[in-house]
Amino acid sequence: MKSTVISIVLTAASAGSAMAATPVYLDPKAPIEDRVEDALSRMTLEEKVALCHAQSKFSSAGVPRLGIPEVWMSDGPHGVRAEINWNDWGHAGWTNDSVTAFPALTALAATWNPDMAALYGKNVGEEARYREKDVLLGPGVNIYRTPLNGRNFEYMGEDPFLASVMVVPYVRELQKNGVAACVKHFALNNQEQWRGNINVDVSDRALYEIYLPAFKAAVQDGGAWSIMGAYNKVWNQHCCHNKRLLEDILRGEWGFDGVVITDWGGAHDTREAALNGLDIEMGSFTNGLTSESEFTYDDYFLARPFLELIRKGEVPESVADDKARRILRLIFRTAMNTEKPFGSLHSPEHYAAAKAIGDESIVLLRNTGILPLDPAAGRKILVVGDNAVRKLTDGGGSSELKVKDYVSPLEAIREVFGPENVTFAQGYAAGRPMYSSEEVIPAAVQDSLRAEAVAKAAEADVVIYVGGLNKNAFQDCESTDRREYELPFGQNELIEALIAANPSTVIANITGNAYAMPWADRVPAILHVGYLGTMGGASMADVLSGAVNPSGKMPYSIPVRLQDNGAHAFDATSYPGVESAEGDVLFGACAPQQRYAEDILVGYRWHDTRKIPARYAFGHGLSYTTFAYGKPVLSAKELGPDGKLELTVPVTNTGSREGAEVVQLYIADDKASVLRPVKELKGFEKVTLAPGETREVTFTVTPDMLAFFDEGAHAWRTEPGSFTALVGGSSATADAKVRFKYAE
Ligand code: BGC
Repeated sequence: MKSTVISIVLTAASAGSAMAATPVYLDPKAPIEDRVEDALSRMTLEEKVALCHAQSKFSSAGVPRLGIPEVWMSDGPHGVRAEINWNDWGHAGWTNDSVTAFPALTALAATWNPDMAALYGKNVGEEARYREKDVLLGPGVNIYRTPLNGRNFEYMGEDPFLASVMVVPYVRELQKNGVAACVKHFALNNQEQWRGNINVDVSDRALYEIYLPAFKAAVQDGGAWSIMGAYNKVWNQHCCHNKRLLEDILRGEWGFDGVVITDWGGAHDTREAALNGLDIEMGSFTNGLTSESEFTYDDYFLARPFLELIRKGEVPESVADDKARRILRLIFRTAMNTEKPFGSLHSPEHYAAAKAIGDESIVLLRNTGILPLDPAAGRKILVVGDNAVRKLTDGGGSSELKVKDYVSPLEAIREVFGPENVTFAQGYAAGRPMYSSEEVIPAAVQDSLRAEAVAKAAEADVVIYVGGLNKNAFQDCESTDRREYELPFGQNELIEALIAANPSTVIANITGNAYAMPWADRVPAILHVGYLGTMGGASMADVLSGAVNPSGKMPYSIPVRLQDNGAHAFDATSYPGVESAEGDVLFGACAPQQRYAEDILVGYRWHDTRKIPARYAFGHGLSYTTFAYGKPVLSAKELGPDGKLELTVPVTNTGSREGAEVVQLYIADDKASVLRPVKELKGFEKVTLAPGETREVTFTVTPDMLAFFDEGAHAWRTEPGSFTALVGGSSATADAKVRFKYAE
């Protein structure tokens, strides 16, 4: 008996000692850096290199021998993309991969509400976790430089402060699901035309003041675990292995400890990729370059060619160690994170979140009083426009989404206003979404659709026009830019004819970009609606009916004419760039060069400083109620280098219903030794006020808010002198002022 007991005890003891011998890297309680070092010490050189490149369209290998899993990535950024084939871009045809489409990021930015960004990150993160993704390819924070950029809808507008405030909660909440954000596209990928090889030249001031802050915020305040290099070149070097961007700025200045992933097919050189801070090479095609071929992931720049450089001693093994360390850290944070939740997919909560974000994102640009439309009035409503029925989650490039449900504007308007009151006319044809080509629609088709809509408009009490752009190539779509600032598909002609037939024509255009509105002053109301995803139609109908009081504000300016935008005020060297005669070996045809001639004067900074009013200014957005600003008061008249001031401003709801106002703080440097924009956004707060209610909104003003980037000193500098704080409901109306001094 005794000996049996002893042997059981011995067995248990030896099992215990086996458990104690669990390798550190497998111990979830061990500090992450110890796990990284332990795993690394067990790996061969070949295993380290295998971590550094794709093994399929959306995954890279782990270390199978050690039980370290693969890294699974997915687009991003508005939901989790449907499964793509292992080796080509075809949809894998799974039946369990439909998702919630959340509003596009430009719509998120239009909420001006960081709580909405947090809600977004949490919910999209839960879907990514459920779909077993480790990296979500987003959010995007390239600055809106030109309304022609086909990808603006995936970014957070024209202002670095707004984008910075909005990106941080998205990243933090997403990553709580054990899913890494992959902030993209770093950097200066501000247009799609020639994106793969254009060489951007920009001043350091514009770089640090305009184009980098949102990336920096995502890295330092958001704690992003990965970042995606951009396709383009900067200073004649591709961004995916750009020494200055990746080594000097991202790692050196910002202390980034995460993984740099290429954009798909964004690597072009093994030595640069090895030495300039790239960690994982992903590819658009199986040879990593420009065409589909046999299964050759091993030919990627960071695969066999990288291994050979190390074997030959031309690159030290420590380079592979550094990359492997970062990738292991990512794996421990995501795939091997034992704390991560299980996630959930298209749940009622996710739909509610998408709806809430959509509700807050719609911008009421103009309203002479026709809106809201009371459903009880029983008016005969004609809905016109392809976007009222088109599924806008299809197309657009990598941000396409396979949705489980999609509430179209027409369906939602029918539900809210009663199906018996609502008729529909398509008005114009837009063709199917295609990636790089367009369907040609015969003029006779457009003519007859227009004639039908105009005839019906004359019979209706109200026309709701739901047009805009769409996700076709040359619209709001990756890989192409728009060809013109005007609405496509003959919509201006159609809108003019509708207004003539029925002056009660409300415009509710869906778009991710500004566009020309020659009819703006002749329509009674204009809504600016983003791509709102699954629940978008419901948000639109609720704003039209007044169930939701609009509170969105423009995250970018809407110029009257394209040439009123800073990037377009110069010749082709500024946009779209000019092709150099030498050509480019990899891309054959050309090596376009571009100089950002407007420099720091992007968006409203240009409109203000050059005194070219926008049609609708950055920060503009109306409500069904009205707000009045009192006089801002400062806690002191002078600010020192280590000090801070409190600015308080009373804001009153002067209308008759509850509403939310985004109180915006801009700061102007009254006199500077360098050119400064007339004013810059430095704070905002969204407040909900009952009718008649007054709230004091307080901002803290600190010296860094007054600084500009001093190129000579390569440092931020605040010059002593006089500054003005301006408060209001848009960049055009922020005229409640107070002055103060900065003294060193
Ligand atoms: C896009 C990225 C995207 C990647 C993967 C690229 O073409 O630029 O934003 O994440 O493809 O689909």
